[in-house]
Amino acid sequence: MNASVIDTVVFPVAGLGTRFLPATKASPKEMLPVVDKPLIQYAVEEAIAAGARNLVFVTGRTKRAIEDHFDMAYELETELAARGKQELLDLVRGVLPEGINCVYVRQREALGLGHAVLCARSLVGDKPFGVILADDLIDGGEKPVMRQLAERFSATGRSVISVERVPRERTDRYGVVDIGDDAGPLAPIRAIVEKPDPADAPSNLAVVGRYLLTPRIFELLETTAPDQRGEVQITDAIAALLDDQGADAWEFTGKHYDCGSKLGYLEATVEYALKHPELGDSFAEYLKGRTPAPEEQ
Ligand code: G1P
Repeated sequence: MNASVIDTVVFPVAGLGTRFLPATKASPKEMLPVVDKPLIQYAVEEAIAAGARNLVFVTGRTKRAIEDHFDMAYELETELAARGKQELLDLVRGVLPEGINCVYVRQREALGLGHAVLCARSLVGDKPFGVILADDLIDGGEKPVMRQLAERFSATGRSVISVERVPRERTDRYGVVDIGDDAGPLAPIRAIVEKPDPADAPSNLAVVGRYLLTPRIFELLETTAPDQRGEVQITDAIAALLDDQGADAWEFTGKHYDCGSKLGYLEATVEYALKHPELGDSFAEYLKGRTPAPEEQ
């Protein structure tokens, strides 16, 4: 399988992270750790596993920590080397494997996800590319979701977006696709709408933060009108793509954690702790032995 159909992945990381204040007052929500790795690192590992070598971060205020995280930590590395802490040194150096290039572009105003993606245009060029929203953490097991998308793309040559079924009452949190009577898991999208009321939603198939797009999307984004909140939505540009090149929805295999919400973030923390090679057993023991407080019984 030629996974390197995508050479570049874009990470829109300019969001304010208001749902995690005050933790995100001075540091980015993408740096929140799930056990011992920040969310953005899981996203980067997923991109690299899909064959990407060029990582584009669309950043905003208070995002310097992301640049530092993927930079060389000279003092720390020297210190660890001097103390003979080889394992930790390897861990720190392994944050960004050899041959991976990181570039940063600033989104000066919060004008929406579509606008953030458009900010990456000159760095992506005229090639298909991936988009990963780091707060949608997805455990894809053997095959991370961006790689699943790359495989679909290499078979079809069409833009493809990851979707999953959500309870009807939650459609107003997501982009929602209509695939008609198609059984999936890969189906042409007939329509896509941003955050519809449950009563108006065309289905309960929600877009979660993984997109593999042809560069045509940039031209469409240029002419996409802002919504009523003044934001340019990627969903609206994808809607325009449907009448143009078309696009597919891929019902991915994997477990999604909405780490943009506190509950989803806690669920991810528990599950990743349970499967952590060093912590898993003792954390499971802890959970088993935890005596519920009287009000929990
Ligand atoms: C964005 C997209 C939405 C998508 C969601 C996935 O919304 O606009 O279509 O379903 O990400 O997480 P946001 O969560 O940034 O409001």
